[in-house]
Amino acid sequence: MNRISAWGMLIAIIMVAVLAPAAGAAPADYGRVVINNASQKAGLAPVVFDHWVHRAKYTCRLCHVDIGFGMKAGADVITAADNGKGLYCGVCHNGKPVFAACSADKSDVKRCERCHSQGKSVRPAVDFAAVTAKLPKDKFGNGVNWEKAAEDGSIKLIDYIEGVSIKKPAQTVQKDFTIKPKSAGMAEIVFSHKKHSLWNGCEVCHPEIFKQGSTKYSMDDIKAKKFCGVCHGTVAFPQEDCSRCHSKPVK
Ligand code: HEC
Ligand code: HEC
Ligand code: HEC
Ligand code: HEC
Ligand code: HEC
Ligand code: HEC
Repeated sequence: MNRISAWGMLIAIIMVAVLAPAAGAAPADYGRVVINNASQKAGLAPVVFDHWVHRAKYTCRLCHVDIGFGMKAGADVITAADNGKGLYCGVCHNGKPVFAACSADKSDVKRCERCHSQGKSVRPAVDFAAVTAKLPKDKFGNGVNWEKAAEDGSIKLIDYIEGVSIKKPAQTVQKDFTIKPKSAGMAEIVFSHKKHSLWNGCEVCHPEIFKQGSTKYSMDDIKAKKFCGVCHGTVAFPQEDCSRCHSKPVK
């Protein structure tokens, strides 16, 4: 091993050690968001939203652009009335066919507790093990290789909801590219615009997460949940999976 790749290895070992505690989440809990701006104040349990249930059916873009959910837990002020009017969760959770979200009547406790579930022992109707058993496996995150699942058709992603999404001319997908890491010895990062656009369209990333063409960032920024780290480490495969990003070995 030459000196440069020995440095690469050393840095890799340190980074794995630093990132390791984040690996603690159980596969079913990875991508979980707890929403509690208003629930407890209203005498209800906080809302538990699992990404795996939803990303098995819908693109990120549909929720984060068309419906407009923010990409941070607690970012939105979601009221029971808005949900009841068919906004936010109520876009889909309106009783036709998915169980309805909030209403003024608190007597339907069973329904309320399907979402207002933190700390309650509710048995979810959609079982994590049953759903993921049929999907291609991965080592990290939900234990599911979501990219393969979308590719091989084991999940079919909905990207349009009538009356909510706006039909737009498709944008030309940009070329895939590689990023050269600042440390010698680390493999280059391969970024696929094509694969990312399938889930995220363009607007999830541009202009908010990446200004086109000039963004400079480091692995520390990513660990701090910025840039690639907005999604990788929260919902998309986590940062422990070094070689999935650093995939092009240096010659
Ligand atoms: C069914 C709708 C829906 C889908 C589909 C969806 N999200 Fe989310 N996402 C949400 C909601 C709701 C929140 C919480 C927002 C809030 O609390 O205001 C959220 C939060 C997030 C966060 C912040 C997480 C955190 O821990 O702070 C990230 C990152 C995110 N989503 C990325 C994604 C990615 C990537 C995808 C696609 C693989 C995706 N989302 C698919 C609804 C969705
Ligand atoms: C784009 C449509 C869509 C949006 C928006 C959406 N959901 Fe869902 N949700 C679904 C569908 C469809 C299912 C049923 C999935 C299945 O049967 O596999 C589901 C299932 C669930 C479940 C699982 C229930 C169980 O008992 O297993 C919970 C909890 C949930 N959603 C909460 C939420 C919350 C909270 C929000 C808003 C923050 C939300 N959802 C927004 C479509 C949506
Ligand atoms: C599909 C998921 C879902 C279901 C089912 C649901 N809620 Fe909610 N509800 C939410 C979300 C998300 C919020 C926002 C949470 C927060 O910020 O704390 C919320 C917030 C609330 C709030 C506080 C905000 C306000 O406007 O005062 C009340 C009250 C409420 N829900 C009542 C109910 C009742 C009663 C039921 C049962 C009949 C119910 N909800 C069922 C998702 C749901
Ligand atoms: C997952 C995030 C993500 C998505 C989704 C995405 N991009 Fe990008 N895009 C990037 C990154 C990262 C760069 C590199 C430049 C940077 O770091 O600022 C980039 C660069 C670009 C550039 C500048 C290219 C150059 O050579 O300077 C254009 C134009 C662009 N994207 C257009 C698009 C379009 C059009 C879509 C949708 C079809 C899209 N992007 C989807 C992350 C994304
Ligand atoms: C807006 C959310 C988001 C951002 C930002 C993002 N990704 Fe991803 N990425 C995803 C999702 C969703 C997938 C699908 C696989 C999954 O969820 O695990 C994915 C898949 C990938 C893959 C596997 C597919 C492939 O190309 O072979 C790589 C590698 C990757 N991302 C690298 C990056 C890098 C590098 C950056 C930053 C320049 C980045 N991503 C930024 C959401 C994102
Ligand atoms: C989601 C994609 C992704 C994953 C996963 C990932 N990296 Fe990175 N890494 C990047 C990007 C993008 C850069 C920025 C390239 C640059 O230096 O401009 C980077 C840069 C680096 C650098 C160069 C120095 C620096 O801080 O910028 C090192 C060293 C590094 N990564 C190590 C690792 C190790 C070790 C792991 C696994 C524990 C890892 N990376 C996982 C995307 C990723």
